[in-house]
Amino acid sequence: MTNGEKAEMNTRILLTFFTVLTIMACIAAPTATPSPTPAKPTQAQKTYQDLVVGYAQIPGESEWRTANIASIRETAEQLGIVLFFSDSGMNTEQNQHDAIQAFIAKGVDVIGITPVVETGWNTSFQEAKEAGIPIILVDRWADVPDDLYATHFGFDFAEQGRKAGRVLAELMDGRAKIVELVGTPGSSAANDRGVGFRQVLQGYPEMNIIASQNGDWIRAGGKEMMAGFLQQYGSEIDALYAHNDDMALGAIEAIEEYGLQPGVDIKIVSIDAVRGAFEAMIEGKLNATVECNPLFGPQFFELALKVANGEDVPKFVSVEEGIFFPEDAEELLPMRRY
Ligand code: AHR
Repeated sequence: MTNGEKAEMNTRILLTFFTVLTIMACIAAPTATPSPTPAKPTQAQKTYQDLVVGYAQIPGESEWRTANIASIRETAEQLGIVLFFSDSGMNTEQNQHDAIQAFIAKGVDVIGITPVVETGWNTSFQEAKEAGIPIILVDRWADVPDDLYATHFGFDFAEQGRKAGRVLAELMDGRAKIVELVGTPGSSAANDRGVGFRQVLQGYPEMNIIASQNGDWIRAGGKEMMAGFLQQYGSEIDALYAHNDDMALGAIEAIEEYGLQPGVDIKIVSIDAVRGAFEAMIEGKLNATVECNPLFGPQFFELALKVANGEDVPKFVSVEEGIFFPEDAEELLPMRRY
């Protein structure tokens, strides 16, 4: 092979090499810088006007509940929220389970429930979770795993019971035979108000609960059970602890019919701070009422909107409250809204 022929061959080899390189570079190199993967569209943030809430409530068994229902319904209307509200029927527990199913079928954004009793909610709540609908426990608590509810918005019922116990201990100078009217057995309000009250009494060996009966939160129940206490113990009774004002107001009627002076012969401490309790304190028939504020509609829907928008919220959000005494009742009564 002459030198000329060798040079031509080398040229051909180099040309082939650079052609292959160029082809390889075209395959590897992107034709353009790839645009970033488009971000998943964030869930559109809801406003009150496009929020749909299902609420399983307890029927209005007390002045307190009536005010609570009104606060929730009125707030929803003011804010333009679509509210599916269930609060009727004889068998409240079954009605609340049925309401959850109905809310799931309607595809609401959030379910609020005031569980009439603490237990038996796992299955219904699990179905809501599988449907992607968060649950807010409102007022009362339910004994379910943390993953089955978004948050509990309500009260420290045990602290309300402790407040009542401390007030009664001071009023009775640490010595009293006490009768107790409890709310619906199995409800978190009744369970915890009983526990908190008894915690305080542990520090007062001469303060003893001699009888305890279920008045079911209603005035008639309080009157009937108090009449029974009076038949059995009469003037041996020094004090009454009622888990809510409605039962205390019924008991006041029974004490008067028995011939004793409520608030004087038998000291009375109850919970709720409804208007009737302020009127009884003004008349000297009730010695203190621990506040349990039912007017939480605005706070509830503010929380519901956050939950619907997937915002982080505390597992428990409490409603602020205090205690009221006879000396303040006359001045405060005109301002009481329930
Ligand atoms: O859960 C709150 C309680 O429920 C109130 O104290 C009582 O009046 C109502 O029945």
